[in-house]
Amino acid sequence: MRVLGIETSCDETGIAIYDSERGLLAHTLHSQTDIHAKWGGVVPELASRDHVRRAIPLITEVLEKAQLTGKDIHGVAYTKGPGLVGALLTGAMLGRTLGFAWNVPTIGVHHLEGHLLAPFLEPDPPSFPFIALLVSGGHTELVKVEKQGTYEIIGDTLDDAAGEAFDKTAKLLGLGYPGGALLAKLALRGNPDRFHFPRPMVDRPGLDFSFSGLKTFALHTVEANPLDEQTRADIARAFEDAVVATLAIKCRRALQETGYSTLVIAGGVGANKSLRHALHEMCKKQQASLYFPRMEFCTDNGAMIAYVGCQRLLAGEREDLAVEVFPRWALDEISK
Ligand code: KG4
Ligand code: ZN
Repeated sequence: MRVLGIETSCDETGIAIYDSERGLLAHTLHSQTDIHAKWGGVVPELASRDHVRRAIPLITEVLEKAQLTGKDIHGVAYTKGPGLVGALLTGAMLGRTLGFAWNVPTIGVHHLEGHLLAPFLEPDPPSFPFIALLVSGGHTELVKVEKQGTYEIIGDTLDDAAGEAFDKTAKLLGLGYPGGALLAKLALRGNPDRFHFPRPMVDRPGLDFSFSGLKTFALHTVEANPLDEQTRADIARAFEDAVVATLAIKCRRALQETGYSTLVIAGGVGANKSLRHALHEMCKKQQASLYFPRMEFCTDNGAMIAYVGCQRLLAGEREDLAVEVFPRWALDEISK
């Protein structure tokens, strides 16, 4: 089965074609970063309008890349939630319309299930069960994944998501938006011994996170020091070290508490090299296996939506023609 995937939940238009036998055939992405950067965050209306402009040319492009036409597509998958309502509606409407025009089934996909199963796009995918750390701009969750479709959230953030904390701290340091990757780059030049940021919630039992205190700690450090180039890098380093150490401690705890021996990292912050390194070290010690999607599939993309849509359509799931999106939708509500 060959499925076209459409991702429009936030500020990236991602389109891909996944074939259940041959794997990923083609994918393409347009990032709206330039549009939103000057506002310091995503402007929902601008996001929706840009998805409308970009999606059809991108679909034409992936079909050409895969040397296919609409007649070769057996199903259409789009992101149904969570995300920005207008942005989601553009993809849902387009997906449904294409399904109707091509006379093939369509399916709405949970964005986080896409992130979670993105490692299955790789040649050496993990096997179930596993623990997934979902770390994106909007989510920081530890998920117990028994099998595809059965997700239990065992840890969650009480306030900011890890990516959000990266972005807010990057803003404090005068970096652009989204700031996660820029902060990580600045941190490379930072001295790890100059500042020490707390590791939130690690001295308490449980698997929940809290990152807003780190952001405040960063603010106080910025206010208490002259903000020269080296100081900015040193703060970036201390902040990144604290987030990475906290995530690694909680992942270790999740593996120990469940007895699982496979860890999957997904979501935009999963692109962070320091986090990847720390989790490698931790998993080595725990004799656990670690899986990441390739860098470009850590952040939002159409390939993960095409993949999940294909699995669900193959399992016989179908939806009627109503266009419905869920801007707020918890991962463990999928099966309900
Ligand atoms: O998964 P994603 O593309 O979008 C959401 O669904 O949120 O994640 C975007 C988040 C942003 O907060 C961004 O700053 C962060 O991932 N991010 C990073 C890195 N690359 C992206 N954070 C830290 N280090 C990075 N290298
Ligand atoms: Zn995402």
